[in-house]
Amino acid sequence: MKVVTTIAELKHYVHQAKKEQKSIGLVPTMGYLHDGHLTLARTAKAENDIVIMSIFVNPTQFGPNEDFESYPRDLPRDTELAKSAGVDLIFAPSVEEMYPSDGGIKLVAGRQSTILCGASRPGHFDGVVQVVAKLFHLAEPTRAYFGQKDAQQVAIIETMVRDFNFPLEITTIPIVREEDGLAKSSRNVYLSEQERAEAPAIFAALNLAKAHFLQTKNAEEAIALAEKHITENTAGRIDYLQFLSYPDLAVVTPQTEKFLLAVAVYVGKTRLIDNLIFSLKGE
Ligand code: PAF
Repeated sequence: MKVVTTIAELKHYVHQAKKEQKSIGLVPTMGYLHDGHLTLARTAKAENDIVIMSIFVNPTQFGPNEDFESYPRDLPRDTELAKSAGVDLIFAPSVEEMYPSDGGIKLVAGRQSTILCGASRPGHFDGVVQVVAKLFHLAEPTRAYFGQKDAQQVAIIETMVRDFNFPLEITTIPIVREEDGLAKSSRNVYLSEQERAEAPAIFAALNLAKAHFLQTKNAEEAIALAEKHITENTAGRIDYLQFLSYPDLAVVTPQTEKFLLAVAVYVGKTRLIDNLIFSLKGE
């Protein structure tokens, strides 16, 4: 496995792979890898000739008071883990390499970015589409792999791929969880022992709400039930807890076929997100 830090090295590698008509799976990450990322990499390996993983803590998707500086970083550890999951090339650029100048040109994510995480993190998804569009141009993947934990991110990236005709396929991988149900996240390392013990209540609350909704079709009651569960079992503050249609992220109507039940909770200083995506049959 190779680790490169410059765009020139990445382009050279991609050029060679394309010449040999190899398919490329791209796994974009911000590093501090966990099983969720490794599942993306393993799936990419099974479906492509070559797997490129980007490891880049992207400053443009962090707000001024967010955790860009303190976001966990450990490239040597990530390199070992990526290697074990079959990654062929890590692209780990510096901020200057990715953003050499501020020419003022920005991508702006649309309607889907103004709700859920976008409402409390203004500009976050503009930063995500900016870096993902660059990575798509640089790595020229046949397929790109994202985790369902960031369901809103996936929906927005799918829209970008469609609207801007990126010649690639997006593959989404189900959420990888700890044994007690907590969704794996690089930010889980921020949790204190007490917060970590409380955090699985978030997934339990989603399941309660889903079961109630499937039985009664009453979204308001289902949300109230989940809110109560989170409030009674954690010291967390709910940022949002919402049913929307998926992937368009619109208000649920009687015609909605696929539901997103999404939650964000501040547990201490850590903002945890989780979700369930399901049809009326519960699948
Ligand atoms: O999901 C993430 O880790 C990031 O948002 C991504 C897609 C790597 C872009 O920086």
